Amino acid sequence: MVRIENIRKRFNGRDVLDGANMSVRKGEAVALIGPSGSGKTTLIRAVNGFVVPDSGKVIIRGKGINYRNKESLRHTRKKIGMIYQLFNLVERTSALENVMAGALGRLDNGVNLISSTIGLFNREERDKAMELLKFVGIGDKAFERVDRLSGGQKQRVAIARALMQDPELLLADEPIANLDPKTSRKILELLLRINMEKGITMICVLHHLDAVRDNFSRVVALKNGSICFDGETYTLTHDRIHDIYEFEEDTECLVA
Ligand SMILES: Nc1ncnc2c1ncn2[C@@H]1O[C@H](COP(=O)(O)OP(=O)(O)OP(=O)(O)O)[C@@H](O)[C@H]1O
Ligand SMILES: [Mg+2]
Repeated sequence: MVRIENIRKRFNGRDVLDGANMSVRKGEAVALIGPSGSGKTTLIRAVNGFVVPDSGKVIIRGKGINYRNKESLRHTRKKIGMIYQLFNLVERTSALENVMAGALGRLDNGVNLISSTIGLFNREERDKAMELLKFVGIGDKAFERVDRLSGGQKQRVAIARALMQDPELLLADEPIANLDPKTSRKILELLLRINMEKGITMICVLHHLDAVRDNFSRVVALKNGSICFDGETYTLTHDRIHDIYEFEEDTECLVA
């Protein structure tokens, strides 16, 4: 489904991605971990085409991303749903309108919705958005303004918006970073249910190793821009975790 081949990206004279390689099979769910600044977000953005690698390739469904061709990029992104840490919703419009905006195809941070385009949605799209809000468990909040929703509810809206695109791939960049533990568990359960029931391939950046262990059978770790671990989660030993994080300040709390 996705193959990342020897991706390199330099920012300000520093190799942020330094020859990263990984593949994800269709229908698989993979957790992506690594210290802050190791390049996780940059890697995700190379997969959705918003970061143009200096060298290397990203191949999706057998086709290399053509970073120079806007039309082809748009086509690639159409099938990639994005979930963000800060939800990236339009706060002053309803949950339903945010979800319908997913039908417009993805812009980088999802907030480029123009309210006047709302009238362009047809009945079918509206019904689909409503169904998706029910599917993610907040059908009763469809007409609520997003700024009145809780963090967990906002993330559900964002997930429904991503599903509106009928994505083949979901990229979630720290989807639970701003949620309390109980809500985090529920949101991850929802994402994994989507992966299993709808067969949507998923790459999920996470910082909480217990959440990784509870939900993902495969984990990939980035360190200094290259992959330093890729394997079954149960083989991620304490020693390996220490290698990945190199006794980073927060490691103890991550492992706890
Ligand atoms: N557009 C950019 N311009 C310049 N530097 C950038 C840009 N994007 C990322 N970087 C740098 O690249 C490095 C890796 O950033 P990235 O956001 O990929 O890390 P990350 O692993 O996602 O970290 P975190 O866990 O904190 O989110 C950082 O040092 C960051 O400052
Ligand atoms: Mg990041």
